[in-house]
Amino acid sequence: MSIVYLNGEFMPASNASISPLDRGFLFADGVYEVIPVYQGRLLRLEDHLQRLDHSLEGIRLEKPLDRLQWKTILTELVNKNGGGDMSIYLQITRGVAARDHAFPTHIPPTVFVMTNPLKPVADDILKRGISAICVDDIRWKYCHIKSIALLPNILLRQQAVDKGAMEAILVRDGLITEGAASNVFVVKENILTTPPKGSFLLPGITRDLVIELAKENDISVLETDISLFDLQTADEIWLTSSTREVIPVTLLDGKPVDSGAPGAMWSKIAQLYRSYKQDIITSVETV
Ligand code: PDD
Repeated sequence: MSIVYLNGEFMPASNASISPLDRGFLFADGVYEVIPVYQGRLLRLEDHLQRLDHSLEGIRLEKPLDRLQWKTILTELVNKNGGGDMSIYLQITRGVAARDHAFPTHIPPTVFVMTNPLKPVADDILKRGISAICVDDIRWKYCHIKSIALLPNILLRQQAVDKGAMEAILVRDGLITEGAASNVFVVKENILTTPPKGSFLLPGITRDLVIELAKENDISVLETDISLFDLQTADEIWLTSSTREVIPVTLLDGKPVDSGAPGAMWSKIAQLYRSYKQDIITSVETV
């Protein structure tokens, strides 16, 4: 039985319960983070906590815990769940109150953390690459906030799944924003590009790490607009996220991306990503 954290206490998941009046349940009034853990080591924790602070500011919710408290709780939860490979899911909502759209006053937030198994993307999928479809980005204008209100993302991802694809790539006014639950990279003539940060996409932690690894290894990276045409004529397309790392898209709307196989630049970044993870696992620092 996995152990979760809820409002100050660790407990078996089956003992955790919240009120149906929780604003997370009634309004999706909350934010979340997903942090990958490799052999008990949390990847880029500082960056995740910083993004969490920005999400909380974005919905005008006070920070329930400081950095040290978060580190202590997350480390303890990882240890209680066996300390292997997993992902941490943490969620903060505006708490329990009579249903009213306006913010309640003097209500403690609900803080929930659980861990989930982190299974690597299967080798045969990585060898082949995945298929994706392009869809209209129907979401709101605050996509930089990691909001738990994911209904548009869910509907768009399901549209992809219904067509036998693994991800939906979102297009707003002719420009690529991101995936339904990932960021997008494109390679063209050995230059790596990804859309710039802004309110139409989530500033992915994996995205930043990939940019960092590329720059350290003399790969040219541009954070610039990507049109649908740029995507359709790309040499390589990748998706990045904390749970799937960096995966190549080899089929876009049913058509092969370039040769239809994962590209050389992806192989290089995937290797650099693996070494980065290995360094985290073997480093002396605990968090
Ligand atoms: N989602 N964009 C969206 C809309 C996302 O939901 C995610 C990740 C990303 C990638 O962000 P990061 O590299 O920090 O994981 C981009 C997580 C994994 C989820 O919702 O489960």
